[in-house]
Amino acid sequence: MTDLVLIGATGHLQSVMDSILARGCYRVAHIVDDNTAGREFFGQYVEGATDLLPEFHARGMRHAFVSAGAIGGYGNREKWYQLARRTGFEIVNIIDPSAAVSPHAKLGEGVFIGKNAVVNAYARIGNMVIVNTGSIVEHADVLEDFVHIAPGCTLSGGVRVCRGAHVGAGSVVRQDIVIGAESLIGIGSVVVRNIAPRMVAYGNPCREQHPLEI
Ligand SMILES: CC(C)(COP(=O)(O)OP(=O)(O)OC[C@H]1O[C@@H](n2cnc3c(N)ncnc32)[C@H](O)[C@@H]1OP(=O)(O)O)[C@@H](O)C(=O)NCCC(=O)NCCS
Repeated sequence: MTDLVLIGATGHLQSVMDSILARGCYRVAHIVDDNTAGREFFGQYVEGATDLLPEFHARGMRHAFVSAGAIGGYGNREKWYQLARRTGFEIVNIIDPSAAVSPHAKLGEGVFIGKNAVVNAYARIGNMVIVNTGSIVEHADVLEDFVHIAPGCTLSGGVRVCRGAHVGAGSVVRQDIVIGAESLIGIGSVVVRNIAPRMVAYGNPCREQHPLEI
């Protein structure tokens, strides 16, 4: 089994660890996080901060995954992804065995696809994207880097979600809609019009409420 270093240890790691264990192809060798050292996940402890990464690499670790979550904005996901790449790690994808990912979809690196999620044909999934539990990403959708599709969303065909945007849990997006970069769509929204970049938007129909403050 390949050794894996996990970077980021908060709630999202619980989903990631479960999928790693279910897949059975990686052994979690180390977990690091700049803020949660000592916390326990599935019987393993967060060993320390991300400054341990060069030491792990020097000891022969080659594969890493950024398991930090984010609701709107990048959180630490972008910073730790760049750090891991600079340190020389290969950034793997974690795809739960219950997910259905079309062989005709294209995936970047650092992607997490959760339980019972669907990624249909010709979807293009960028680097560091999260398609969370039970979400449906339809044919020819484009999810740019650092997008998070929260649990239980349905994205109709031809949707583009631009870099760093977050689609809140249980939202539905009409076909061919564009959601602007870094925008935050609230839970349970029905998106029937394009959303500008860096907006907080929610409701049915989903309306832009105010610019994102982070
Ligand atoms: C949209 C969102 C960011 C707003 O958060 P916020 O700025 O803290 O807003 P508040 O909770 O202070 O609510 C402000 C108002 O908006 C309303 N509101 C907030 N989210 C809403 C939503 N999704 N749909 C409809 N109304 C919403 C509140 O009822 C409140 O209305 P009021 O002023 O009349 O009482 C947040 O509600 C949200 O949906 N986040 C996404 C969460 C998510 O996807 N979680 C899954 C993670 S895996």
